[in-house]
Amino acid sequence: MKTIISPSILGGSFSNMEKIIKSLDQSEAEYIHFDVMDGDFVPNLTFGPQFISNLRDHTKKVFDVHLMINRVGKFLDDYINAGSDIITFHLEIEENLDELISKIKGKNIKVGIAIKPNTPWEEIKSLLHSIDQVIVMTVEPGFGGQSFMVSQIDKIKNIFNYVRDQKLNVDIEIDGGVNYETGKTCIDAGANILVAGSFLFKQENLLTATNKLNNFFN
Ligand code: DX5
Ligand code: ZN
Repeated sequence: MKTIISPSILGGSFSNMEKIIKSLDQSEAEYIHFDVMDGDFVPNLTFGPQFISNLRDHTKKVFDVHLMINRVGKFLDDYINAGSDIITFHLEIEENLDELISKIKGKNIKVGIAIKPNTPWEEIKSLLHSIDQVIVMTVEPGFGGQSFMVSQIDKIKNIFNYVRDQKLNVDIEIDGGVNYETGKTCIDAGANILVAGSFLFKQENLLTATNKLNNFFN
């Protein structure tokens, strides 16, 4: 199966975003990952829907929007209208998840659910029947540049086995601490989408680094 690379722009400088998006547009990565943080669900703040919509004109790549926010319902229309292709929110928020899922699907946008490292995989089991992707967090959400948590590998395997046995069409995306080595462990465990932030941005050339990572897995 093809491995999709979703570069996380959180790894780059926000002052340079137009250039970064244009460079990722030239790359072989299929997705671009946007980490939205509200300083409430996670202890960090990033950007909102206007930031995403301002970048939408510069590329046709799949906008993979990861909402690490509470009050998803209140802001959902804004993220839909910003040009998101996939909207993922967290299982751990206190809202009616089924309603959010239906609303996103109704707009012909793919829907994902993300789970934090301490959340057992069984808690997402029933929702796997109504979503397009699951994001398995392999770091505590909130910051880029953290170390990969090997403890999450079993979770990936369990989700993969369940999705396969139930014949579901759900992508398994890994977010946090991905590099060649950790990425390979995740792919072997059943993942098919890899988010990569700091690993790509710390290299000299973003475009070359992104293509290299993509070629390594495909
Ligand atoms: C963490 C974010 C990640 C982050 C990944 O809360 O969800 O998407 O940007 O960054 P790295 O690859 O640096 O761990
Ligand atoms: Zn993310």
